[in-house]
Amino acid sequence: MLDSHARAAQPLAADLFAPLRRASPDTAFVVAQIGQSLDGRVATVSGDSRYINGPAALDHLHRLRAHVEAVVVGAETILADDPQLTVRRVAGVSPARVVIDPHGRTGAARKWLAEDGVRRLIVTAEGVAAPDGAECLALPCDQGRIAPAALVAALFARGFRRILVEGGPRTIAAFIEARCLDRLHALVAPVIIGSGRPGFQLPVEPILSRALKPKATPHLLGDGEVLFDCDFSAYRRR
Ligand SMILES: NC(=O)c1ccc[n+]([C@@H]2O[C@H](COP(=O)([O-])OP(=O)(O)OC[C@H]3O[C@@H](n4cnc5c(N)ncnc54)[C@H](OP(=O)(O)O)[C@@H]3O)[C@@H](O)[C@H]2O)c1
Repeated sequence: MLDSHARAAQPLAADLFAPLRRASPDTAFVVAQIGQSLDGRVATVSGDSRYINGPAALDHLHRLRAHVEAVVVGAETILADDPQLTVRRVAGVSPARVVIDPHGRTGAARKWLAEDGVRRLIVTAEGVAAPDGAECLALPCDQGRIAPAALVAALFARGFRRILVEGGPRTIAAFIEARCLDRLHALVAPVIIGSGRPGFQLPVEPILSRALKPKATPHLLGDGEVLFDCDFSAYRRR
């Protein structure tokens, strides 16, 4: 007989993507994904992060990319991982690639800039040049921070309605703090690193009952991994 946790977890279901497919055409829909260890780490102390999650989680990530019009990552993820941000593991169309790089630190020789017919946008502070091949999306920067709501509005105005914030944790945390997320897919792998880079870091909340508690549905992936599909609609600010 299955125990209560096994009963509660559901096999990975196609309807995981239903909120994206059903999203209103009149407003942006923002989903984030994070892959992490059981102890909430995204990389070791040396930055080794490939791969905390297994093949099923990677397939899921590519499928998620195929359900959005734009995928957003922070500058540090480009510098650490040099990701392609395509849907090469699944059928579908690769989304536009958007990199938040207010100071232009990531440079030109990066895979996200590959000329494959997909739009590439770099989000910078005003006055920072874009690398060749990328459209520049210059936004107001307050003490080095670009407001996630302003970024979502600027992407929506350019026709990107469904937006995936793929990481890293600092980029996603800013969206959580700004109440700019509709959904979070957190993929938890049964590995304990015990040290290393933490997942989200948010302003201190000393009262546990005030911590964010999105409505979450667990789904089983292969290799003992669990995907928590977290619904942030109760916290969403528009
Ligand atoms: N496990 C996963 O699912 C996953 C996914 C992606 C990445 N990663 C890992 O995560 C690590 C990198 O993550 P990270 O959290 O350190 O960095 P990150 O989120 O990739 O990038 C953070 C940087 O991006 C820029 N940025 C992002 N949002 C901004 C905003 N709202 N306003 C202004 N600038 C903004 C800033 O650049 P400036 O510093 O220039 O101001 C910021 O320091 C790597 O180890 C990578 O391997 C893991």
